[in-house]
Amino acid sequence: MVNKITVVGAGNVGATTAQRIAEKELARRVVMVDVAEGVPQGKGLDQWQSAPIEGFDSRVIGTNGYEESRDSDIVVITAGIARKPGMSRDDLLNTNAGIVRQVCEQIKTTSPKSIIIMVSNPLDVMAYVAKEVTGFPRERVIGMAGILDTARYRAFLAEALDISVRDIQAMVLGGHGDTMVPLISYTTVSGIPITQLMERSALDAIVTRTRNGGAEIVKYLKTGSAYYAPSSGAVQMVEAIVNDQKRILPCAAYLEGEYGLKGLFLGVPCKLGAKGIEKILEVELTDEERTALRKSADAVLEPMAAMKK
Ligand SMILES: NC(=O)c1ccc[n+]([C@@H]2O[C@H](COP(=O)([O-])OP(=O)(O)OC[C@H]3O[C@@H](n4cnc5c(N)ncnc54)[C@H](O)[C@@H]3O)[C@@H](O)[C@H]2O)c1
Repeated sequence: MVNKITVVGAGNVGATTAQRIAEKELARRVVMVDVAEGVPQGKGLDQWQSAPIEGFDSRVIGTNGYEESRDSDIVVITAGIARKPGMSRDDLLNTNAGIVRQVCEQIKTTSPKSIIIMVSNPLDVMAYVAKEVTGFPRERVIGMAGILDTARYRAFLAEALDISVRDIQAMVLGGHGDTMVPLISYTTVSGIPITQLMERSALDAIVTRTRNGGAEIVKYLKTGSAYYAPSSGAVQMVEAIVNDQKRILPCAAYLEGEYGLKGLFLGVPCKLGAKGIEKILEVELTDEERTALRKSADAVLEPMAAMKK
């Protein structure tokens, strides 16, 4: 358990993230910060009142300022607007860049030693904004997307094969958008290559459904986007850091030449431990996968360049 974890944004993703962190007792104090007056306070109090029933001692509080979040070990950023039907993640760019910039200015001064986990979209660009504004080293600015995209992929595969989700190992790399790269060559069922268990056409259909996994949920919800699985993804990263688990997870990391790319955030396999990103793993890719990763990098660079300074 660490001393303090802050979640910025007490909306759907933020509040669910705070609740999961508290229930797992990953921090003594969980602080929710949001600009909406009364919302973080009310949700924080409500969550804390679930503690006697759920049996956790993490103290959840909500606030509109950053004083209570001072000296946080980890800050999860979920502030910003979410997608509505027909919107792409890039449509959120300028609004969320302004919000994320403002949030990161505060984090930089109040929690200068924290590890930032970015969740706000467009994910890879918002992680870049956080790194630029805070000046934190790349070990301490990490984006959550690959775990979610991989979870969707694993869930669809488990359903198609009628097997446990636990036995599917996979990695979805690249940017958090339509160009994401599910690695079929590294998808296994308890070590058995997926291609031995499934027709390529069925696999391709699952890859397509995974790429559109976020939009599928936005279409159902109509007024917002997914938050149960996204908050699980963010909390898996928090847990890996708090417990120094050295887990290998797909995370958006700032590349400095890995995979022949630099100067942008992109989903790659990372070792997550107490220091944040402790290593970026460069795995062998097929020509097709390498081309897809480059295409995905281009799709991240475009909104990065278009962002209003
Ligand atoms: N990375 C991913 O895989 C992933 C998955 C799901 C959602 N998201 C993104 O996460 C973000 C949050 O989604 P949501 O469903 O929780 O949205 P939401 O609308 O439910 O909540 C967003 C919250 O941010 C708050 N906020 C706005 N400006 C703020 C500021 N300056 N400081 C603090 N708080 C501020 C709002 O008041 C609101 O409560 C969106 O950008 C969404 O696209 C990312």
